[in-house]
Amino acid sequence: MNILLLGSGGREHALAWKMAASPLVDRLFCAPGNAGIAREAACIDLDIADYGAVIAFCRGHGIDFVVVGPEAPLCAGIVDDLEAAGIKAFGPSAAAARLEGSKGFTKDLCRTNSIPTAVYERFSDAGRAKAYARARGAPIVVKADGLAAGKGVVVAASLAEAEAAIDMILGGGLGQAGAELVVEEFLDGEEASFFALCDGTNAVPLASAQDHKRAFDGDKGPNTGGMGAYSPAPIVDAVMSARVMSEIVLPTLRAMTAMGAPYKGVLYAGLMIGAEGPKLIEYNVRFGDPECQVLMPRLMSDLVPALLASRDGVLKSLDLRWYAEPALTVVMAARGYPGAYGKGSVISGLDKAAAVEGVEVFHAGTKAEDGRILANGGRVLNVSATGSTVREARTRAYEAISRIDWPEGFYRRDIGCRAVEREASVRSRLE
Ligand code: AMP
Ligand code: GLY
Repeated sequence: MNILLLGSGGREHALAWKMAASPLVDRLFCAPGNAGIAREAACIDLDIADYGAVIAFCRGHGIDFVVVGPEAPLCAGIVDDLEAAGIKAFGPSAAAARLEGSKGFTKDLCRTNSIPTAVYERFSDAGRAKAYARARGAPIVVKADGLAAGKGVVVAASLAEAEAAIDMILGGGLGQAGAELVVEEFLDGEEASFFALCDGTNAVPLASAQDHKRAFDGDKGPNTGGMGAYSPAPIVDAVMSARVMSEIVLPTLRAMTAMGAPYKGVLYAGLMIGAEGPKLIEYNVRFGDPECQVLMPRLMSDLVPALLASRDGVLKSLDLRWYAEPALTVVMAARGYPGAYGKGSVISGLDKAAAVEGVEVFHAGTKAEDGRILANGGRVLNVSATGSTVREARTRAYEAISRIDWPEGFYRRDIGCRAVEREASVRSRLE
């Protein structure tokens, strides 16, 4: 079959790498792609916000299946449009993508269906939002309702910070995404990302992961899209995974079906796991980035039948196999990210890096020019490695990074530190 993948990040490179290995795929296209994806797929210069152009491309190139990477086109209804044009597509409809597109929608769904989440209220009036925050006290969390490219959540340590966030969001600081907001309880615990593949009725748990959101070592600096990740998350053992499925994921699927918006695609649950068990922080309607760059190297089974089964509603008969080995990925970003950064610097040493055992280098913001690889975005590379332990995967990833010559880039040196410490303490208990 011929597949068109939409997107251009490290997540899409990992998906392209995995799909390119499938015997089911005749031709793999990616729009717009990047320099790394170009090794796995034919990259095409297509504006993926122009659904008419995407549909015309599919018709012209015999595309059997479209896989959508990022959330923006999903929330805007690309899957609805493709399916209406008779083209199979992986991912949720616009109605189902509200699970990511509107925080208020998801919070209300949790409340109605007794899905564990932080106590909250929704507001479009700043005075009322501030009164609620004052009544609850700090720390408290303020969230823009809509998609805000990772900038919509403020974990406020003080009331003054919460009030400033409320004014910023409702005052138009995030545009239409901030027309409404949620004020919610601060949750204590350990965060984990949990992924499930859904077909409307059934869900298959994928793997778990933990990511590092802050820009600098020691969880310092501004929030980013993610500076690294590892899988599995040690806190999500088999018992916890079963709880997340039965207390969070499956009740969500039942509720979505009941409201006439069955959920198909990957459901990414951001969790806080504390004394009372797992609670939902938020949903995303797509694979995580950089979490996908550790999930794909751990997936033994062919990805393509799994994505098709999600679309076709036949996940029940799917059996996915995973490697037990953990994986870890370190993001290399352009200096300045997540603020302003330069483009066009030359990156070399990538082949030497990829030669390290267990390593795959996934590209994000890169482009090829005159035989050279140039930086072309904020997050630029993901150096992923598997190993018999997180520690070994980490050693391999950093060995690969030491072979990459890119003075204009930076990366965190402490990815996986907590998991490595946990491994060490388990080892010392066994000795
Ligand atoms: P997001 O940008 O929506 O992924 O959220 C950013 C981060 O804010 C999350 O990964 C959590 O670390 C934090 N966060 C969001 N909601 C809460 C909450 N209710 N309690 C504590 N931390 C939170
Ligand atoms: N790594 C966080 C995200 O993909 O939203």
